Amino acid sequence: MRTEVIAVCGTTADKEKIEAAGAIIRTGGLVAFPTETVYGLGADALNPEAAGKIYEAKGRPADNPLIIHISRIEDLPEIAENVPETAYLLAKVFWPGPFTMIFKKTRLVPVETTGGLETVAVRMPANETALMLIKAAGGFVAAPSANSSGRPSPTVASHVIADMDGRINMILDGGETEIGLESTIIDMTSETPTILRPGRITAEMLAAVLDQAVSDQPSRQDIHGAPQAPGMKYRHYAPLGKLTVIEGTEENVVSYINRQLHADRAAGKKTGVIGTDRTVGLYGADSVKNIGSREDELFIARQLYRILREFDDEKIEIIYSEAFTGTGVGHAIMNRLSKAAGYRVTEV
Ligand code: TXA
Ligand code: MG
Repeated sequence: MRTEVIAVCGTTADKEKIEAAGAIIRTGGLVAFPTETVYGLGADALNPEAAGKIYEAKGRPADNPLIIHISRIEDLPEIAENVPETAYLLAKVFWPGPFTMIFKKTRLVPVETTGGLETVAVRMPANETALMLIKAAGGFVAAPSANSSGRPSPTVASHVIADMDGRINMILDGGETEIGLESTIIDMTSETPTILRPGRITAEMLAAVLDQAVSDQPSRQDIHGAPQAPGMKYRHYAPLGKLTVIEGTEENVVSYINRQLHADRAAGKKTGVIGTDRTVGLYGADSVKNIGSREDELFIARQLYRILREFDDEKIEIIYSEAFTGTGVGHAIMNRLSKAAGYRVTEV
């Protein structure tokens, strides 16, 4: 299959291109598109065969459900049942945005889209191209992140091309995504709304709107029995090299990592480090990446997946990363980073 790459700018000037992309989805094809979080791989959510193609293109396990993307709150009852008032309250504040809610599904939604579950995840993205595409495609677009299963999510179109060229019909290239980490997922079917995947919208932000406690995930997700989105149990976001996250005071972290690097390089390994503004000059690795300043976590969030992919391109075998705090979006950064590391987090 030839994959067409089309540049878009998210304005009405794109109307014709996006109509064409929508037609591909309506007739059962696959189109990757930008959202404010990461690039999505879209198919008609109500067409079981089309949803099946997503799993094939990504090499994704069949029991890992997809998020359905909508463009209007009015469309929610078509696919979700027993939607509590609190969900509309949250939707009013956080939609369109990096925020996904889980409900009981209606009969309209095929189990091929929900990985066999009776629940459905729904999100309205805050990206004009995405919203126009969803409308053009008929209103319900199933879209996982547009990476091959297990690789870091794509934050620019070239990441999508690297993973999906020849496997999907079209890629809409809308430049770099703003947030760089996937949406916050909250389960609205449980008594206490429960975060299954942390993101830009934090538990504190949700609790402030609901005036009710919200149950959150540990940032390292290594606690057995904690509720998780099915997809969180798979190896994910992971670079090819062996990644370890090092937590502690700046001084301890830098000296520990340098000691490890010394041994790894002596063993002939190609090494990489993820450091910050203040520390990048201090590491003796083959490839040292500056992920940004600790004062700007939103910037760090945007860099993470790109950096993990760069290590792959450079064939780095051993990677160390500094840890990030568990507050604000730092919580989501640490969640993805520790997962990418297979939960190898060392305190020094
Ligand atoms: O920001 C995002 O959410 C991006 C963009 C493209 O919208 N999408 C995304 O989709 O991250 P994906 O498929 O890569 O991750 C969706 C996660 C998976 O971990 C999946 O298991 C979980 O959502 N999920 C989907 N439906 C679910 C359900 N009914 N119950 C529990 N978890 C669900
Ligand atoms: Mg994903």
